[in-house]
Amino acid sequence: LSRKIYGLQFHPEVTHTPCGMKILEAFISECGCERTWTTKGYMELAINQIKDQVGERNVFLLVSGGVDSSVAFALLSKALGAERVCGLLIDNGFMRKDEVVQIGEYGGLLGRLMVVDASEQFLQAVKGEIDPEKKRRIIGEVFIQVQNETLNQLGFDKGQWMLGQGTIYPDTIESGGTEQAARIKTHHNRVEVVQKLIAQGRVIEPLASLYKDEVREVGLQLKLPADLLWRHPFPGPGLAVRALCAKGEDYLPGWEKIEHQVDSIARKSQLEARLLPIRTVGVQGDSRTYTNPVALIGKADWRMLEKVSTRITNNIAEVNRVIHLVTPARLPRLAVKSCYLTKERLDLLRQADFVVTEQLYKENLSREIWQMPVILIPLSSDGEKESIVLRPVCSADAMTARFAEIPHEILRRISELITGIKGIEAVFYDVTHKPPGTIEWE
Ligand code: XMP
Repeated sequence: LSRKIYGLQFHPEVTHTPCGMKILEAFISECGCERTWTTKGYMELAINQIKDQVGERNVFLLVSGGVDSSVAFALLSKALGAERVCGLLIDNGFMRKDEVVQIGEYGGLLGRLMVVDASEQFLQAVKGEIDPEKKRRIIGEVFIQVQNETLNQLGFDKGQWMLGQGTIYPDTIESGGTEQAARIKTHHNRVEVVQKLIAQGRVIEPLASLYKDEVREVGLQLKLPADLLWRHPFPGPGLAVRALCAKGEDYLPGWEKIEHQVDSIARKSQLEARLLPIRTVGVQGDSRTYTNPVALIGKADWRMLEKVSTRITNNIAEVNRVIHLVTPARLPRLAVKSCYLTKERLDLLRQADFVVTEQLYKENLSREIWQMPVILIPLSSDGEKESIVLRPVCSADAMTARFAEIPHEILRRISELITGIKGIEAVFYDVTHKPPGTIEWE
C-alpha cells in the first residue's frame, strides 16, 4: 500500500552484479516502487562476500583520495585485516595543496597505504603540451606505466594477489558517466591488464551495487570522517586540466565579427562583452566544442547574468561559455601569456584553489555546491600575471549542471583573497550552465 518494499534482503548474486541489479531495478520500477533500500545489513553481507571471494589471497587497491576508493579500501581492510590489503596512492603532481599528506593521514584510518611520488615523471611527460585531450591521454598512459611498475615490484603476478577497485553502480551502467568519466574509467578500472584479471577472477569490487549516497552510508558505518565522505569529485588528471596552457593568442577565425555580435547582445543589458583569445571545452548534443569564451564586464545580478549568458550561447554558435569579471572592475585588453604545465604554475593554482576551498568550508557551502573547479587562465593586462576563473556548480550527476550562485559578500571576500596572491591579476566567475559549457574547462 505504501508502495515500498520493506525488509527484503537480496542474495549477493543479485545485488553484487550489474546484471542482477538491472533485473531488480526493472522489477521495482514495474511495481511502481522507488528504490529506497538502506545499506543496513549490507556491511555484514559484503564482508562475508569479500572473505568468500578473496579466500587466502591478498588485495591490492589504487586509492585516489576520492570517496569510492577510500570506502572500498576501508571495507576490504575491515573484512580481511589491514595486513592483507595494500592501498596505493600514485602522486601525479596534479593534486591539490596538502592533498597527498591528507590522504596519507586518512590512509592510516583506512588500512595500509603506500604512496608513490611519480610527479616528476608525469610533469616531464606533459612538458610543452597544450591540447587538453593530449594532456589527458599522456597522463592516463603514465598512470598505467607507474601502476604496472609498482605491481611488478610488489610481485603481483607471482603472488596471491587480487586487484580491488572502488567501482560503484553508476560506473557500471552506460548512462552513468560523461564521455570523459568513461574514458578515465578506462584508464583506471578497465584497462587491458584489468580486463584480463577480471577474466581470471582476480578483481574484487565491493561497492559495485551501490549508489554514491549508499557508499557514503557504508563509509559512515565504517566510521570514516565526514569531510572525507563529502569530498567534491576531482578529476583523475587533476589540476593538469585546470591550468590552461597556450602558445599565444588563439582566436577563432572571424573573431572580430563574433565579438561585435556578443557585445551588441551584452550592451542591451548595460554590459560590455569581450571574446577571450583562449579556448575552452563545451558540449553540444553528443559533441565536444572547443572555442573562445566570452567575458562580461559591468555590474549585474545573477538573473541578468544568466539571461545574457543564455542569450549569447543560444544565438552565437561559436560561443560555449560566458564568464563575468568579478575583480578588478575594469580591465584593459587582455594579453595571453605563452605557457605550459610547470610546477610553478601548478603551485599558483594550488594556492588559489586552497583559498577558495577553505572559504567554501568555512561558509558551509561545500555540500550545497556540488563541485567548484578553480581554473588558471594565462590572461592578464601585462601578459605576465595570470587570472582565475571560479566554476561553482549545482548538479545531481554531472551530466547537466547549473552555475551556482554564491552570496555576493562571500564572493567578494574570496576574490580579494585570490587577487592577494602574487601573480594573479583578475578573478572571473563562470555563468554558464552545462550544456553548453562543461563543468571542467578542458
Ligand atoms: P565535465 O567537464 O565533462 O565533467 O562536465 C563532468 C564530471 O566529470 C569529471 N571529469 C573527469 N573525471 N577524469 C575524471 O576522473 C577526467 O578526465 C575528467 N574530466 C571531467 C568532472 O570533474 C565532473 O565531475
